[in-house]
Amino acid sequence: GLMRELKGIDVMELELKHRLGIKKVMIVPGDGDESPMVKGELGKATAICMKKLLGGKNIIAVTGGSTMAAVAERLSPDLTQKELLFVPARGGVGEDVQNQANTICSNMAHNTDSRHRVLYVPDQVRSEIYESLIKEPDIHEVLTLIQSASMVLHGIGDAITMAKRRKSNPEIKKKLEEGKAVGEAFGYYFNEEGEIVHKVLTIGLQLEDLEHIPNVIAVAGGTSKAKAIKAYLKQAPKSTILITDEGAAKRLLKG
Ligand code: F6P
Repeated sequence: GLMRELKGIDVMELELKHRLGIKKVMIVPGDGDESPMVKGELGKATAICMKKLLGGKNIIAVTGGSTMAAVAERLSPDLTQKELLFVPARGGVGEDVQNQANTICSNMAHNTDSRHRVLYVPDQVRSEIYESLIKEPDIHEVLTLIQSASMVLHGIGDAITMAKRRKSNPEIKKKLEEGKAVGEAFGYYFNEEGEIVHKVLTIGLQLEDLEHIPNVIAVAGGTSKAKAIKAYLKQAPKSTILITDEGAAKRLLKG
């Protein structure tokens, strides 16, 4: 439309896609750091993008966070000429309830008249109990569903913000500082080169699993997330679609 052309958003989308070396970039107007409404716009754009990609039966793996929570608000039943099943991508119990993948999946299913599954697994698991947890039948079943997902919807966060939100212990915070972590996604922390500085042990989707999933949609906006987005996308599969806002996009194009 005219608004988009005036703002040069179409041009920015193409340039950013080339710079980041990913499949597609969608940019919504505004800056999420300045207005909470922008997350709603990210949600709307995500819904449009999902509608184009989904066909037949789909298992959709979803991460937590306030952006994904906003996406859930914007999904509607017109997605459900298709059969959808929403599953948490990873254990997330321990985060704020409204930002947990379990809650978000439940809202997504509710808003699209479809189904969801829960994964009652903490966002951080000690290695001693990891092995026994994955053998629990209920958990095992959800893990199998995650592995056959045709789409992943996920957030990207600033590393330090995420470490604080997770109440990570001083040892981990030190590791992140020393490793100059700037971005976080799926429990992995990345430095500006896109190298993994730290990984939170939990059950569910691991970074290497993304390569086998046909549709990967990253949703993250706000100027303050530009560094995080850039860092993570150095590791991300090239098939990733990024849905972001003007604030982050402008900062990314400057850098
Ligand atoms: O904790 C789940 C998660 O998806 C993280 O991987 C990501 O960094 C964060 O949430 C994004 O949260 P928000 O959308 O609130 O910035």
